[in-house]
Amino acid sequence: MKIGVPREVWPGECRVAASPANVKRLQKLGFSVVVEKGAGTAASFDDDGYRTAGAEIVDGAASLWQQSDIVIKVRAPMEHPDLGTHEADLLREGGTLIGFIWPGQEQALVQKLASRKATVLAMDCVPRISRAQKLDALSSMANIAGYRAVLEAAHHFGSFFTGQMTAAGKVPPARVLVVGAGVAGLSAIGAARGLGAIVRAFDTRPEVAEQVQSMGAEFLTVEMEEDGTGSGGYAKQMSQAFIDAEHALFEEQARETDIIITTALIPGKPAPLLITEQAVKNMKPGSVIVDLAAERGGNAAGTVADQVVQSHGVTMIGYTDLPSRMANVSSNLYGNNICHLLDDMGGAEEYRVDEEDEVIRGTLVLHDGEMKWPAPVKKLAVDQKKPETAEPSEAVVAAPAEKKDRGPWMLLLIGLALIAVGWSGDSGFLHQVSVFVLSCFIGYQVIWNVSASLHTPLMSVTNAISGIIIVGGMLQMGGSMEDPATVLGVIAVLFATINIAGGFLVTQRMLKMFQG
Ligand code: NAI
Repeated sequence: MKIGVPREVWPGECRVAASPANVKRLQKLGFSVVVEKGAGTAASFDDDGYRTAGAEIVDGAASLWQQSDIVIKVRAPMEHPDLGTHEADLLREGGTLIGFIWPGQEQALVQKLASRKATVLAMDCVPRISRAQKLDALSSMANIAGYRAVLEAAHHFGSFFTGQMTAAGKVPPARVLVVGAGVAGLSAIGAARGLGAIVRAFDTRPEVAEQVQSMGAEFLTVEMEEDGTGSGGYAKQMSQAFIDAEHALFEEQARETDIIITTALIPGKPAPLLITEQAVKNMKPGSVIVDLAAERGGNAAGTVADQVVQSHGVTMIGYTDLPSRMANVSSNLYGNNICHLLDDMGGAEEYRVDEEDEVIRGTLVLHDGEMKWPAPVKKLAVDQKKPETAEPSEAVVAAPAEKKDRGPWMLLLIGLALIAVGWSGDSGFLHQVSVFVLSCFIGYQVIWNVSASLHTPLMSVTNAISGIIIVGGMLQMGGSMEDPATVLGVIAVLFATINIAGGFLVTQRMLKMFQG
């Protein structure tokens, strides 16, 4: 099967859908790769790099699109400026397209692709569940955007981030406020802390407070209780009273803040206005605001999308192409996301669009020209992906309130019934049943209620629990194999060992990802 990587034609777009390293990976998956001449130039990948990686360089978009079974792209197809043809019309009939599509707002494009009997997978629709993290391109890009936002702020800020004490005088450290501690916000916190700034952050989801604090930043709160946690790891819209409390907080904080980075977002909604004009006025001249939500209307009053403007002496940055400003790394990570997707689809050998697979189903927009988006509500109600700039998918809007999980209470009831039965028996049995029931109940609560984003620390907890199980199992293993307690002990040790070994293997794999 042949994968085609065209040059992006969106004005100013520097990214490309695959780097030479990604090309090697795609070949390992059994695909052959063709790359359009100059496709990677703006991301600092030259044609020779692709050739060395084993790709064939093709001169001209039309030829590339025509010979590719699967075309991988960053931006949604658009009118080709050199050919005067829409890119969707270049896709060969029955071909496959993978890229950012935004089916909620690009309905005409989806229709066009449907008429080509195309199969389309939208990287912006990957469900936000832990299994799909490796193909979550929105998170990869938001991570880069958060980092770049700090660099843009540093570029426009007239002082150091870290405090300095020199013979010439003392310079205080920069004070940075990050509003919205999702993927982009946490990345911005990490970058600002790394440069030595004093960082404060605010988010409506109380569960991110620990993550913020663990990165060395202070978590701000308002004197009002309202949990902003929505479904699938995203936020919900806050009440007007809460937003008013936020305005007051930020107006106060602005007086002593040099840089504000805003990333607040509710899936499918316009960005909430959080930094009022009064807050901007309260900042010292020379301060900087980077508004990552500029594309969706902005979190700060006075931001202009794609521009740098001055307001009351404050520099306001509204760039909407931050990942493209770091095209080399963002292309590579985006390409990795696509490689993971194609790997999950079976590689070239066993390639298939499996509609039973929750991740593929959520990502699928068209299958052989047949409309598949949005994915059925029931299947993806809890983990439905955010449409970053798209209209809310019906799946998101119509998702019924999460069903109340009665599992642990059923467990507790069964346990109580067992205890009641055991009451009449000997006290040893009663004691053991009580411990068993309580551990099942606590274990269920600990494991089942953990959000997808915390699955990695969860692994450490489960490893600790498995360690205790091994000790318990070994204590039971003294007798003969005819003794049920010994058999159960052996089984417990076996499963707990598998769990621990598996945990270490996964951790090892994750560490390798960071060691390049
Ligand atoms: P995310 O969903 O992971 O994080 C958004 C955070 O905002 C959540 O933690 C949420 O709880 C918080 N939030 C929502 N309402 C709030 C409120 N009223 N007050 C405080 N916090 C609130 O989203 P992600 O992926 O981090 O993206 C953040 C923003 O960055 C989005 O607007 C996205 O469109 C934008 N973005 C911009 C880019 C650019 O080049 N400018 C590139 C990539 C993303």
